[in-house]
Amino acid sequence: MHTSFGIYIHWPFCVSKCPYCDFNSHVREAIDVDLWQKSLLADLHNIHKFSKDKVVTSVFFGGGTPSLMPPKIAEALINEIHKLWQVDPQIEITLEANPNSVESQKFSDFSKAGINRVSIGVQSLRQKDLDFLGRKHSVTEAYKAIDIAGKEFNRFSFDLIYTRPNQTLQEWESELTEALAIGTSHLSLYQLTIEQGTPFNLAYHRGDFSMPDNDKSADFYELTNKIMQDRGIPAYEVSNYARPGQECRHNLTYWHYDDYLGIGPGAHSRISLDGHKHALRRHRSPELWLQHIRDNDKILENLKIIDPTLKAEEFFMMGLRLTKGITLDRVQQEFDKPVHDILKTTKIDALIQEGLMIIDDTSIYLTPAGLIRLNKILQFLFY
Ligand SMILES: C[S@@+](CC[C@H](N)C(=O)[O-])C[C@H]1O[C@@H](n2cnc3c(N)ncnc32)[C@H](O)[C@@H]1O
Ligand code: SF4
Repeated sequence: MHTSFGIYIHWPFCVSKCPYCDFNSHVREAIDVDLWQKSLLADLHNIHKFSKDKVVTSVFFGGGTPSLMPPKIAEALINEIHKLWQVDPQIEITLEANPNSVESQKFSDFSKAGINRVSIGVQSLRQKDLDFLGRKHSVTEAYKAIDIAGKEFNRFSFDLIYTRPNQTLQEWESELTEALAIGTSHLSLYQLTIEQGTPFNLAYHRGDFSMPDNDKSADFYELTNKIMQDRGIPAYEVSNYARPGQECRHNLTYWHYDDYLGIGPGAHSRISLDGHKHALRRHRSPELWLQHIRDNDKILENLKIIDPTLKAEEFFMMGLRLTKGITLDRVQQEFDKPVHDILKTTKIDALIQEGLMIIDDTSIYLTPAGLIRLNKILQFLFY
């Protein structure tokens, strides 16, 4: 039985927009921090009515760049969460942080505010690649941020982006080996994705750079999994690696399809009410979101029941990202029927025969060959 419940807080601002990023992040010359604090607190109260009886197991400050947030806002929100909800004594409170020196100097204050885990956007340990990715921090600053994080927080993780244009397997192996020498129990390793509508999408289609083909990407993925497995930090999700017990509990809540509530621009929620899973989504624009909060308008009107087809799709889309997949008991618990009554048996059999999926006595999960084709497999299963 899953009992996790997370709260997501979105801070939508960044110093500049990275050319590969399609997250809900914005650059603004000035931010009224008092208004943002007041509005985020008001939004916490809005969502509380849906989850009064829940025990909060994790909080995640994501972005954007929430490490740009004044630590006093994080503190006010964490204190309010403690007032409004019952809180698990082992609560995980994560902050996404950029490794610019100004931000890492605030780590101590974030720690005092109650943050106990940081996820640092290092992205690369090669200066030329940080420049290519449009990052505003240096490799030296990244090392410094990790060093400070190790002293200030119980747990930290950092992100790297690989399969960069012209990157060779050997170059990635040596960079990842250097990253592992830093010593961490959690890493997020993402293959560079060219997202629609980003400057990288234009540059790529203009022919400014090329990207590895599917076979090459699979080679990078296999190498990465092998190195991480050998180091005792195996994959537990498509792009996330942890020593056993060090997995990000907040993200596990999403992948287990447990309930979570999100506040701030563009934040999503999934909440079980009256026997149905509901979705709630906030306006993506920071200014419109502020206006909705100020006018106490259109905040909850987007609360919608997720129909059974979409629910099954979301459930498997989340759970099949995990290397352990989904337990058959969990499927039964969520849908009150077995997996073969939800997914088409012919499709399951085809995936099993291709060596992409396994169903054993307890679980349904993808093999490593399946995980790298996750999106195609989901398309196949649901369309
Ligand atoms: C919300 S974002 C960024 C958090 C923080 N603002 C930062 O840049 O470090 C979370 C992570 O997604 C990854 N990411 C974002 N866009 C990506 C892309 N197009 N391809 C691969 N990884 C991406 C990056 O590693 C990033 O750290
Ligand atoms: S990658 Fe991070 S810092 Fe860059 S624009 Fe996106 S959210 Fe902002």
